[in-house]
Amino acid sequence: MNQTKKVLARKWNWKVFLLSQIAVILCAGVVSVVTIFLISSIEAELQKASATTVVGIVLSNVLLFETLYITLFIFDPEKLTKTSQFVLVSLVITITFVFSSVVYRYCSPFAMPIQLCAILLCILVGMKTGTISVFNLVFIILVNLVLRGAYLRNDIITITAAVVGNLLSGIAMIYLASKHFTRIKFLLYCLLAGLSCIPYIIVLSISMGIADITLLFNVLWGLFSSAISIVFYFPFVILFEAIFNTTDDFRLDELCRLDQPLLKRLASEAPGTFNHSLVVGNLAESCAIAIGENSRLAKAAAYYHDVGKLKAPIYFIENQSNYNPHDELIPEVSVSMITSHTMFGEILNKQYRLPKAICRISLEHHGTSPVGYFYQKALLLTEGTASKSNFSYQGPKPSSKISAIIMIADTVEAATRAYMPPTKEEFVQRINSLIDEKLNLGQFDECPITMEDLTVIKNTIVNVLPSIHHSRVSYGEAVTVTDESNE
Ligand SMILES: [Fe+2]
Ligand SMILES: [Fe+2]
Repeated sequence: MNQTKKVLARKWNWKVFLLSQIAVILCAGVVSVVTIFLISSIEAELQKASATTVVGIVLSNVLLFETLYITLFIFDPEKLTKTSQFVLVSLVITITFVFSSVVYRYCSPFAMPIQLCAILLCILVGMKTGTISVFNLVFIILVNLVLRGAYLRNDIITITAAVVGNLLSGIAMIYLASKHFTRIKFLLYCLLAGLSCIPYIIVLSISMGIADITLLFNVLWGLFSSAISIVFYFPFVILFEAIFNTTDDFRLDELCRLDQPLLKRLASEAPGTFNHSLVVGNLAESCAIAIGENSRLAKAAAYYHDVGKLKAPIYFIENQSNYNPHDELIPEVSVSMITSHTMFGEILNKQYRLPKAICRISLEHHGTSPVGYFYQKALLLTEGTASKSNFSYQGPKPSSKISAIIMIADTVEAATRAYMPPTKEEFVQRINSLIDEKLNLGQFDECPITMEDLTVIKNTIVNVLPSIHHSRVSYGEAVTVTDESNE
């Protein structure tokens, strides 16, 4: 049981780290160039900037982006193990900074669209990273625009008020992004959230002795910043989804609608697999919520994890009634029919242009687990000489927490479909043994899931699964072999 006690180490990828450092240097460079050329064009003092000042600006921006990297490393490290995630974060911050500099120069500090960074990153990367990033953006703006430019014009208070006021709207929008509204509702609520900066702008303006028409303009520019953030959000989110092959909650919601072409095919051609996928979706969604993962991605990935069975639905137990084609096949042929569904699932999901994460999960959801039923059958036929590796899935093993969740939910659903233990104690024991079996087989070695996560997942399944199976009664012997009995 030593294996069950080990803490699963987070994967460190040097390629991703180097890519992140390149992003730090490039983005710091862009921010510095904008600061020097755009802002200094209106500042007499900075026009005479020496080489030392330029180097100072560049270095301070490198430090600011490194601070972002370190903050994410401390609070949301998983994002740094994924290719392109930090690049995406840095790019969104840089674009928002450039926009903010332009509106600061030509409109008003109150029009700086800080909210754009907040909503883009919350939707594309996640709430935690979005929140951390928007605070880092504020530091970048303060250091570049306020300390270097505005200080010389003595309007440091105005710009600080503008940045903080719009940050409040951004935080309100981050909260809305976490609520998973429909696109239209999200847009309308974000417009309302833009109002949250008004009291702050009014109070700050009055405290600065502004009580004339300028106050009204400050408020209007504050509202304008929310409006342009929302206007630019849609083209940018589509662009970034395409470039970084990421996806937002709205797209995932659409994919979970049962009228999606691939799900409709699954429902008509493999109804047993379709029902199995819906239950796995319920379980995976609950587990993802319990360990703080993206529950929408978990649900969508579960719905599409077994679409590879469409190639030959009858070879899978949940789609059989009276006829079982495996009765006429040798175990080697049966197992190849079954294990190929992961590879075919990935191909089919790619053909239907599903997000990369979902394609990957459909390939990984069995890892390198043996197909126990046919392995046992082969052992009997060969008098114990059959090789286990010939009766196992080809992998790869799950590479993300959500992939591990799908593997667990899939295994638990298939096993309890075959046999639902009659007492709570037996049921808890069964869930524990199914998950421990996967752990002992090393199926979670390549993903960052922790023992703590696995305990939470076990407890969640114990609480959620009986309500899903509430009308089910036990109708057979326990499956004693690993992985789904006939899959
Ligand atoms: Fe499967
Ligand atoms: Fe499955």
